[in-house]
Amino acid sequence: MNQKKEVGEKAIDYIEDGMIVGLGTGSTVFFTITKLGELVQKGLSIKGIPTSKQTEKLANKVGIPLISFDEVEQIDVAIDGADEVAPDLNLIKGGGGALLREKIIANAAKTFIVVADPNKNVPKLGSFPLPVEVLPFGFEMTKKKIQNLGLTAHLRQVQGKPFLTDNGNYILDFLIPDMTNLKELERKLNLIPGVIENGLFLGVTDIYITLDREEDNSIVVRHRNNV
Ligand code: A5P
Repeated sequence: MNQKKEVGEKAIDYIEDGMIVGLGTGSTVFFTITKLGELVQKGLSIKGIPTSKQTEKLANKVGIPLISFDEVEQIDVAIDGADEVAPDLNLIKGGGGALLREKIIANAAKTFIVVADPNKNVPKLGSFPLPVEVLPFGFEMTKKKIQNLGLTAHLRQVQGKPFLTDNGNYILDFLIPDMTNLKELERKLNLIPGVIENGLFLGVTDIYITLDREEDNSIVVRHRNNV
């Protein structure tokens, strides 16, 4: 059984004709987008808003028509993966570097659905390094300011060069010390000039689709209001 495919395709249950759909980034939502493409070929009428260039390419390939922000008032449903999911449905995202566009789209959506295999479930956030998107200008100073919060930050690199996001920015990854108040950390990060966005998604998940690892790997759907 492909766990990512199972949960990715389950999200299709929440899509209805005529919807504007935020399309996430990553290897789980890949299956959602591919399935949506198949349904569009069979007559489903939706429009997508992609969270990355990679997803835009995939949507074009599978035939999902795209729409731009200036043409919509609101996104009906956004579906995305995650790097860590806590019991309260708070998330760390941005392992693929798409956190900024992902957060804009998650926040613009009436319903934000997260799809993740059970390996992403953690008792509390923080084993996965938290990605922070920063402006390349003066990023060394931005990094120092983040380190002054007691965190060790690493510049994400690919083949010896800084990783560039779709927005032309850098990513600093850092480990969250134990007992950190995440809301407070988010607030402090957002106050540092040069920080564009962080990968903490607190209080935004409406529906979470995963698998029950302890039982029989059956689908588990959790809703924000009864976490
Ligand atoms: C992209 O920056 C991330 O936020 C992805 O949504 C996340 O990494 C998805 O993980 P999977 O590839 O395991 O679905």
